[in-house]
Amino acid sequence: MASDTFNLRTPGPTPLPDPVLEALTSPMINHRGPEFKTLLDDTTAKMKQVFMTQQDVFILTASGTGALESSIVNTLSPGDKVIACSAGSFGDRYVEIAKTYGAEVIEIRCEWGDPISPSLIEQSIKDNPDVKAVIITHNETSTGVTHDLEGICKAVKSNSDALILVDAVSSLGSIPLPVDGWGCDVVSTGSQKSFMIPPGLAFISFSERAWAAYEKAQMPKSYFDLGAAKKSLEQGQTPWTPNISLFYALDVALDMMLEEGMENVFIRQSSVAEYTRKSMKELGFKLLATDENRASDTVTAVHIPEELDSSRFMREMKDTEKIVLAGGQGKLSGKIFRVGHLGSVVQEDIEEVVDAMKRVLPELGYSNA
Ligand SMILES: Cc1ncc(COP(=O)(O)O)c(C=O)c1O
Repeated sequence: MASDTFNLRTPGPTPLPDPVLEALTSPMINHRGPEFKTLLDDTTAKMKQVFMTQQDVFILTASGTGALESSIVNTLSPGDKVIACSAGSFGDRYVEIAKTYGAEVIEIRCEWGDPISPSLIEQSIKDNPDVKAVIITHNETSTGVTHDLEGICKAVKSNSDALILVDAVSSLGSIPLPVDGWGCDVVSTGSQKSFMIPPGLAFISFSERAWAAYEKAQMPKSYFDLGAAKKSLEQGQTPWTPNISLFYALDVALDMMLEEGMENVFIRQSSVAEYTRKSMKELGFKLLATDENRASDTVTAVHIPEELDSSRFMREMKDTEKIVLAGGQGKLSGKIFRVGHLGSVVQEDIEEVVDAMKRVLPELGYSNA
């Protein structure tokens, strides 16, 4: 079903703008020929602008998790000590990837909905001076909280040489993340979030310090070996067959983002997010984010009160109002709903959600609307 049949308010995939849809139907080309070289060189150069980095950036044919896995296997060896702070299901996932490949993970677990305090990480680094890397989720999509990555980077840098590996899957391109400015070593994101294109591409930046770690990293890798990606990129190619259609779409989407200007994108995102939070509170709901100053500009997570049947609410919103909201993940299943507002979103998209809720909620006996 076409995405514009519904007002798709999941925090990725997002609705696709018309120029992106058009680009997706472009004819196939030889991925070992000059046309693809131009496409790869252009998209990589534009992606560096969005990442705000002079370091290497690679476009992988994978979902965001592929970039996260790359960040681990290309910088670490089994037994390496890693500090990981998690306050949600995506933080937990990053921990699992590191553990799967044999890292010794020192876990700091925070309440879901709370922001992660840089001082927690600072203390853990002081307790573990031999730590090789700190892994952190910038924007926890499962709770709608943006952690203080700038503060965390400062805390890491002033106390150690540890690499900073960042899951920015639902932040980069929507929420400011100056990769070089904050000194992040490896930053991962995915195509179906801020980039307004379908799932299937992952983007990853890799600093010089990360390359130094790569030389020593012993974790097994093959498809996600960034050394192979670097060698191929120098020839204008990818090591494996790329998703060419998504590259076409990405080229157009990056032009749209850069033409709007990243500062303007951030302002639009932030204002739509603020409108979403204000509207949800006016409808009588409580946000999951315990500190509203750290509530996410890409996804709003909202408590479902006991008197509201969450599955009926979500079903009515979809079937009657054609609005697709996201539910809670893991232990938040049935306890929250989430409104995604990233990509090409404008305030009218959220006004539609609010108007629909005003019709649906009284029918379900929820009286605050
Ligand atoms: C913060 C975060 N990390 C990781 C992922 C996983 O990305 P993917 O599903 O593209 O592999 C997501 C997806 O929603 C996410 O929001």
